[in-house]
Amino acid sequence: MAGVDTSGLSGPPEVRTATLLRWQADACRELGSPLYGDLLTRAAGDLIAGGPTAEVLRGHLDDRLSSVLALRLLGGAHALALSGQAPELAAYYPSCGGRTESEPGSPLAWAALRRVLAEQGDSVRGWLDRPPQTNEVGRAAALLGGLRFIAADALLPIRLVEVGTSAGLNLRADHFRVPGRAGSYGNPDSPVVLADGWLGDPPPVSRLQVVERVGGDLAPIDPLTGQGRLTLTAYVWPDQAERLSRLRGAFDLAERVPAELRAESASDTLARLTLEPGSWTVLWHSIFRQYLSETQRTELAEGVVALGMAATSTARFAYLYLEQSRQGGCPVTLTTWPGGHRRVLGTAPAHGLPVRWLTVPRR
Ligand SMILES: C[S@@+](CC[C@H](N)C(=O)[O-])C[C@H]1O[C@@H](n2cnc3c(N)ncnc32)[C@H](O)[C@@H]1O
Repeated sequence: MAGVDTSGLSGPPEVRTATLLRWQADACRELGSPLYGDLLTRAAGDLIAGGPTAEVLRGHLDDRLSSVLALRLLGGAHALALSGQAPELAAYYPSCGGRTESEPGSPLAWAALRRVLAEQGDSVRGWLDRPPQTNEVGRAAALLGGLRFIAADALLPIRLVEVGTSAGLNLRADHFRVPGRAGSYGNPDSPVVLADGWLGDPPPVSRLQVVERVGGDLAPIDPLTGQGRLTLTAYVWPDQAERLSRLRGAFDLAERVPAELRAESASDTLARLTLEPGSWTVLWHSIFRQYLSETQRTELAEGVVALGMAATSTARFAYLYLEQSRQGGCPVTLTTWPGGHRRVLGTAPAHGLPVRWLTVPRR
């Protein structure tokens, strides 16, 4: 919850947490989930009234702001609905084949969710102890465009390495499709379509040949297992059909396009990374840096500098990222070596779509 004004966080723990739930409700509405906006507003009232929400959240009222308690709570209930264990709630979740109600404020969906919290509270509580794990496929629009800039600099095979990769879904970005006003980009038969993904000057036309895909994460999720898919789907908001369709398309691609997933910290990934002659090594990350401590950020920056210094005109290195800036929005930033040439290529919202490309002078 970057950018949250914490000055309103005062009073007893229930009141502070209810304030957080309402903030998250507003954020969900702004980001296109009126359903979660309604449910979290009602959950905040239920918490203050000592209802089932209070019982489920007991012991978590002093959790860190950044742990996004509201999304962990709703993720647990969504998993029950997705796996057929909460059919009444599923009836109001489009992700489960249900329908959102026409009644303002979603009273029937709330009644169903409240019953889940009252009757299956232990299952939902199991989801409160782990961080939300989203792997946002829309962010690949920035990666795919960035790779085209890199290949336009030098047409070499690409070794793609992602830190904070989650399930590694975006390591297949070169197989995604971006339809645009002036034409389409990427694979026309792709199950992942990043509709309206690029605005402004499209990235240069260049052929991409990705020869290695490696992702590291402290807690990677295997997108080839039922449990992994359930976890990733549970954190997508149930009334966001396009995000769900992108995610499900990326699951299909993950079966066809292998990628190596490693359970390791970013510092460890950097420490073992070397450059290879005759290729680009591309280090990429998205909406990940905010989770690092100062020490971890320094290790990442030092690792990048060391790789940059090792680069040659055949063993090239590129560092590409989509991260939130203090000024708002997320710049797509690329630095290439040899030379350390840094460029802001465009900007995107936190969920990645659309990327607004800037006019970048070609080298
Ligand atoms: C918000 S998710 C973003 C996942 C993915 N990059 C995306 O954009 O969809 C942040 C990810 O960073 C991982 N993470 C946090 N700290 C890490 C660290 N020190 N090293 C590696 N991964 C880390 C988390 O486990 C989580 O999967």
